[in-house]
Amino acid sequence: MKKLSILAPLAALILSACGNSSDCGSSVCRTSSAEAAIENIMTRTSVRDYTDTPISEATIDTLLRAGMAAPTARNRQPWKFLVVTERASLDSLAQGNWKPAAKAQAAIIICGDLTNPLEGEGRDYWVQDCSAATENILLAAHAVGLGAVWCGCYPVSERVSLVKNLFGMPDEIIPLSLVMLGYPNGEQTPKDKYKADNIHYNKW
Ligand SMILES: Cc1cc2nc3c(=O)[nH]c(=O)nc-3n(C[C@H](O)[C@H](O)[C@H](O)COP(=O)(O)O)c2cc1C
Repeated sequence: MKKLSILAPLAALILSACGNSSDCGSSVCRTSSAEAAIENIMTRTSVRDYTDTPISEATIDTLLRAGMAAPTARNRQPWKFLVVTERASLDSLAQGNWKPAAKAQAAIIICGDLTNPLEGEGRDYWVQDCSAATENILLAAHAVGLGAVWCGCYPVSERVSLVKNLFGMPDEIIPLSLVMLGYPNGEQTPKDKYKADNIHYNKW
């Protein structure tokens, strides 16, 4: 029952976000099976060119919920999300290090919140936690028919300073990644990255 109560509003949001029309193209609309989930993972690819169609607030909300559904070390959820929709800010990001921002309709900046970090060697798990959130956002974006690209920030200090200064982030907030978002301009072919050589069973 709990599972259903979490999923029901999300499913409604996803369907409203992509319009639920017969030609929508998102994997959620094609089928709601395990096959669709795997297909969504396998067909995601970086998209860096976008149309000027705006992204609704409901769609952004769906992506943020997907991000915060990610696993985190000791369930610490050490993150904050900055949604950027102002053209001037997106243009500043494009003039900095991230060209896809020039045509993006929005960006979500996934930040580590080091206000209350894990102790000892676990301190840097925030990087994995925020990376998991980033991937969830990419997958959710693809599922609703958006194009997206993960743009790296931390640990490149120049990039971190640029983003922190641009948005006035406090010391304990570290931008890890920026996800640029927009409806895809043209078709993208996913890369086939499967290599059997990368896999070991039971021992090296
Ligand atoms: C940590 C990280 C940093 C990245 N930084 C950038 C970036 O700054 N700009 C960019 O265009 N793509 C960036 N990417 C996207 C990668 O280039 C892309 O994922 C990779 O080429 C594989 O292609 P695919 O996403 O289509 O599978 C980054 C990806 C990761 C995981």
